[in-house]
Amino acid sequence: MARTPEYPTNVEPLVVADAIAESRILLGDNRDIFSSIPDKSVDLIVTDPPYAINYRSNRRTVLPKYNHIALDDSTEWIASFCEHAIRILRDNRHMYCFCRWDTYPKFFQCLEVAGFTMKRTLVWVKDNHGSGDLRGDYAPQDEWIIFASKGRRFLNTPRISNVIEVPRIASVKLRHPTEKPIDLLKILIDKSTPPRVFGDYSQEPYLVFDPFMGSGTTGVAATSLGHRFLGIEMNEEYYEVARERLPEAKIRLIEKLVKGRAAI
Ligand SMILES: C[S@@+](CC[C@H](N)C(=O)[O-])C[C@H]1O[C@@H](n2cnc3c(N)ncnc32)[C@H](O)[C@@H]1O
Repeated sequence: MARTPEYPTNVEPLVVADAIAESRILLGDNRDIFSSIPDKSVDLIVTDPPYAINYRSNRRTVLPKYNHIALDDSTEWIASFCEHAIRILRDNRHMYCFCRWDTYPKFFQCLEVAGFTMKRTLVWVKDNHGSGDLRGDYAPQDEWIIFASKGRRFLNTPRISNVIEVPRIASVKLRHPTEKPIDLLKILIDKSTPPRVFGDYSQEPYLVFDPFMGSGTTGVAATSLGHRFLGIEMNEEYYEVARERLPEAKIRLIEKLVKGRAAI
């Protein structure tokens, strides 16, 4: 049964209003939605597009059976996605795009052609490796994240390595076959957004955008750092998972504020 979010009432109301900055998630194909998103309207794009390799997984999950991940069969959509991404991003803002070593050339090329400044590739190192060709290949333990910018923007200090070690989610806990750890997304968002100080009303929360949101991990991470989120997912089951997770993330944030932490 769906949980109704309840917000604690014993905290200064304006601070709570501040923390529940408006977020929005949309069920649909982002190719139909992109053109209705205004130019220069989002502050950060963090996204994990389909791998374009016809991904199916046999791992166990709470969902009875994984749905085929849309757009996995072709790479033609990548150029159009990159053009929209740079159009809707404000100037002097960052973009992070997950990919695999074998789709990296296509994503890199399309992002560069669209006009992004290519900054670096980050490597997410997992605590254990995946399966694949058990006898004929090395055991994969990494995932790549292209870091690009529109204009120039400093990263928040302290400076960190481009190799980021975060444990993967145990397969029995996965709600989506390629669900990413919240802690990994929080590191990226934290480096590319101003830290929120709740109760400082001169400060606008950033709008973080994920057009391939899956189970909404980017939204959970953005929410937990006090930022707004816009997400799109075309698969109804994954959209429903995100719809449940986001209010829970807000409740956790508000509970932190109730305990008296003004800055997260
Ligand atoms: C790699 S997964 C993202 C997983 C996500 N990072 C998470 O932690 O749950 C990519 C998602 O994009 C969705 N997708 C693929 N094509 C799409 C499209 N054209 N519009 C919206 N969503 C799409 C798929 O259904 C899939 O859930």
